[in-house]
This record gives sequence, C-alpha cells and structure tokens, in this order.
Amino acid sequence: MNSNNMDNIIPHDFYIGKTDRNKLNGHDSCVVWFTGLSGSGKSTIANLVENELFKKGIKTFSLDGDNIRKGLNNNLGFSAEDRHENLRRIAEVAKLFVESGSVIIASFISPLEKDREMIKGIIGRSNYIEVFVNTSLEECERRDVKGLYKKARAGEIKNFTGIDAPYENPVNPDIEINTEKESLEEATHRIFKLLQKKLEIK
Ligand code: ADX
Repeated sequence: MNSNNMDNIIPHDFYIGKTDRNKLNGHDSCVVWFTGLSGSGKSTIANLVENELFKKGIKTFSLDGDNIRKGLNNNLGFSAEDRHENLRRIAEVAKLFVESGSVIIASFISPLEKDREMIKGIIGRSNYIEVFVNTSLEECERRDVKGLYKKARAGEIKNFTGIDAPYENPVNPDIEINTEKESLEEATHRIFKLLQKKLEIK
C-alpha cells in the first residue's frame, strides 16, 4: 500500500450516517459471521437465519463464496495469503453494508484466529457476531456435499482446510453450533434469539 496516496485521501463528511439509516429502518445493523469447515453447514444455517430476519422485515444481505469468490475475489486462491486478502476485502465490504443499514450474513471458512481478529478489527467488535459452526472433520468428510474432500484426499486439491491446511477453532465465539447434536431449527432459533436482542427487534 502506498502511504503517500493514502495521505491525499481526505474523508468527506456525509449528512446521513448509520444511526440515521438504522432509525429509518427501525433496526440496528451488524454482521453475523459464520465460521467453520467446508461442508459444516454454515451456509445452510445462514440461509435459514436470513429467512427469519427477512420475515420480520429486517434488511439483510448474504455474502458467501458464491457471490464473492466468483466476482470481487476471483483473482484469489486458497494459500494463507490469498485467504487473508479474501477475508480482508469481505470484511471491508461487510463494513460498508453495515453503514448502509443492513444485517450482513457472512459465511466463510475463515480458518485462522488472526484473520478473524482482523475481520473483527475492520468491522468493529460491537457490530460483529461470531457464529462457530462446529461440525467435526469426520462428519464434514462423511457428508462431502460438494465432493471436495474426496478430491483433497486424492491430492487433486491442495491446501484444503482440515486436510492439508489448518482450521483453528474460535477461542470465544458469540454462539457455537454443534450440527451433530442440534437440529437446524434449534440452531437457527438460538441465533435468531441473540439477534433479536442485539437488533432490538420484536
Ligand atoms: S476462506 O478460507 O478464504 O474463508 P472461503 O469460505 O472463501 O474460504 O471458500 C471456501 C469454499 O471454497 C469451500 O466451501 C469450498 O467449496 C471451496 N474450496 C475450493 N478449494 C478449497 C480449499 N483448498 N480449501 C477450502 N475450501 C476450498
């Protein structure tokens, strides 16, 4: 990053800010960040949560591999550096959406604690809710919804999280979901309850 360029960027004072938009919408905005292994059920639960919020008239938007890795981040792979850059850009995008008044549902493996700390730093702790979808590697591999674990075991995909790339369990998530013990409905309900409090919705 060229710091000289940054020195010449002078922020503009906007008339309308997050507080104004939150007031207009009748609810607060934040990021619900789902982390967990590939195939852990992050996107499934995230979808159900968004659906519940939408039914309550909450402004939401989902960010996941489908709309990010195929577009904005289509020049990034799965090395530690690329994952870091993937997550940094997503966190910056999510931060803008929070300013715009939306509740962002983000589902990314986000395997490293230091990267999740970065995300939290960009978005701001008070706007960030971390959901750890804790499904064991054995179970994710058994499900192998996309057939990627099989390819990773065969050496056809390198740096695959859980196989030959690390996943560090979150130290202190706001919510932990165990999909092997809890139904999707129960998990969704628990997350929704937390959001109800956070967003002050009925
Ligand atoms: S992250 O590590 O940078 O957070 P992200 O959530 O964007 O990853 O992308 C993960 C998805 O990409 C997985 O669910 C899987 O479908 C696909 N994928 C392809 N290659 C890999 C890989 N080497 N490791 C993990 N996921 C991969």
